[in-house]
Amino acid sequence: MTTSPLASLAEQTSELLTTIEGLTSLEALREAEASLTGKRSVLSNLQKSLGALEPEERKAAGAQLQEARRVVESALEERRALLLQSARLASLEADRLDLGDVVVNDVHWRLSIGHPGLVALTQRELEDVFVGMGFTVADGPEVESDWFNFEALNIPPAHPARGMWDTFYVDLGEPETVVLRTHTSPTQIHLMEQAVATDTLPIHSVMPGRCYRRDTPDARHLMGFHQIEGLVVDRGISFGDLAGVIETFTRAYFGPDIASRLRPGYFPFTEPSAEFEVTCTICRGEGCRTCSFTGWIELGGCGMLDPAVLDAVGIDGDEWSGFAFGFGIDRCAQMRHQLDDMRALIENDTRFLEQLS
Ligand code: PHE
Repeated sequence: MTTSPLASLAEQTSELLTTIEGLTSLEALREAEASLTGKRSVLSNLQKSLGALEPEERKAAGAQLQEARRVVESALEERRALLLQSARLASLEADRLDLGDVVVNDVHWRLSIGHPGLVALTQRELEDVFVGMGFTVADGPEVESDWFNFEALNIPPAHPARGMWDTFYVDLGEPETVVLRTHTSPTQIHLMEQAVATDTLPIHSVMPGRCYRRDTPDARHLMGFHQIEGLVVDRGISFGDLAGVIETFTRAYFGPDIASRLRPGYFPFTEPSAEFEVTCTICRGEGCRTCSFTGWIELGGCGMLDPAVLDAVGIDGDEWSGFAFGFGIDRCAQMRHQLDDMRALIENDTRFLEQLS
């Protein structure tokens, strides 16, 4: 019996597979293809040599050879797909435009990538704290009718309390008075009206956003600033709940060594009303110029919802009670990062912005 022409088929096949593995470009693959599987390839030569075998042996050997060819061909196809894919990636990579690379008079400038400013970051952090306490976050318009900004909040026309907010009026040539909201409190009215209309009381929400006042900007005031409003309407809500929320928020946001306190205050839409102060973060309560040597900094106002406000939105004050609070986001950022002048927040000095983000 002669040795089978396929005696070293396994070895030859594995050599072919190794060759295929070593092909690193589509061009090399195309060139190698003929010698791997073509008419003059090892496999085709073996095929021809089978003619000398007995019919029985030939059949078995033929099947063996066919299987080897299948393995080699599929390895080749796999390799081709892989090389095609990396060729595509390479051409995409070569076509990529570097939009950060700006060339002016042959000088390359790197465009720096923008990022959220300190106020936006502060707003996000505040939202996170309140969401962690079970509040949802809501939004309201910056341009409001007199009803939302004042009247529904128990501030009728000509009420002396209007003087508490230096207001920008928007002249739309319409009889209705339209203002840039002077605080986020009008969003309380939107939320309560909505909840009444859809029968979805209670409410536990915070409402951040931009507000406007005709103030002269100084170290602690901006004409366009940000507040976050809080509103709870539920059954059996007490002033203790309000104080608890304020204190929990203060410790969560400023840290355990900063406390809050409420001092009697006046707002037409809350009764009783309070001013909400926190330990001065600059002197940690020792007393310094920023806090006028009191050790405390005023952040905002708060109080129990005035029955007149519940009436205005159609909520039954015998069944429901609640509280609201509102304070400055910019002021929080100022306190948290100990900025001596709030105007730095809007001056767009990139050295400042980069330092604080
Ligand atoms: N809207 C008030 C202000 O900006 C603050 C406030 C909000 C007071 C909610 C009480 C309740 O002056």
